[in-house]
Amino acid sequence: MSVDELKKEAGEKAVEQVKSGMVLGLGTGSTAYFAVDKIGRLWQSGELTDIVGVPTSEATAEHARRYGVPLGTLDQYPVIDLAIDGADEVDPQLDVIKGLGGALLREKMIESVTRRFIVVVDERKLSDRLGTVSPLPVEVVQFGWKFTAGRLAGLGCAPVLRGGEDSPYVTDNGNYILDCHFAGGITNAAALDQQLQALPGVVENGLFLGLASQVIAATSDGIKIIE
Ligand code: A5P
Repeated sequence: MSVDELKKEAGEKAVEQVKSGMVLGLGTGSTAYFAVDKIGRLWQSGELTDIVGVPTSEATAEHARRYGVPLGTLDQYPVIDLAIDGADEVDPQLDVIKGLGGALLREKMIESVTRRFIVVVDERKLSDRLGTVSPLPVEVVQFGWKFTAGRLAGLGCAPVLRGGEDSPYVTDNGNYILDCHFAGGITNAAALDQQLQALPGVVENGLFLGLASQVIAATSDGIKIIE
């Protein structure tokens, strides 16, 4: 199976847990895309009714709108029944790195108030230690970003400005992203999370610890469900 087929399988499998009447967190990225697409088709065919989607990015909002899925905001729906989203790396404890798609801030705001958060990945994202498969995306304010990068380096990583200085990537929230490479991976993710969030200039980081309820991983040997 191609990687795209694996992503589709994982994304659509998760949608089996979506029920009419739910408030749904709609994830961002190429795997979550398949979940949003399936939800859109089920909505259009009338198999799903009375749902509201809370999108984690402008791109996802636009995708859902194409199917006419009713959308709401976190302010209107401060509790989400179920969210489905991709990830860049998943460890056996279901701790996750997210943000290579750039939507980590809205994703974390939404997925931290979600009753059930399903992570959908293909087999390449499974790892024994976070930081060995993916760099850790850190969203920072534009003001003083080099200074902030220096402080991040002080935490033991090599931060790289996404997009480069000539055309930096700008998030939906108007911030930059520093992709932080940890040689040998991250040794203590919980401590790092706290250190990162204590740094002025850091808006959010891509460590999603203790948030996922279930991981659906599509592998060449079939679907693997990790609770
Ligand atoms: C978006 O900001 C990210 O957190 C994505 O969910 C993550 O990067 C996974 O994306 P893909 O499914 O495209 O690999």
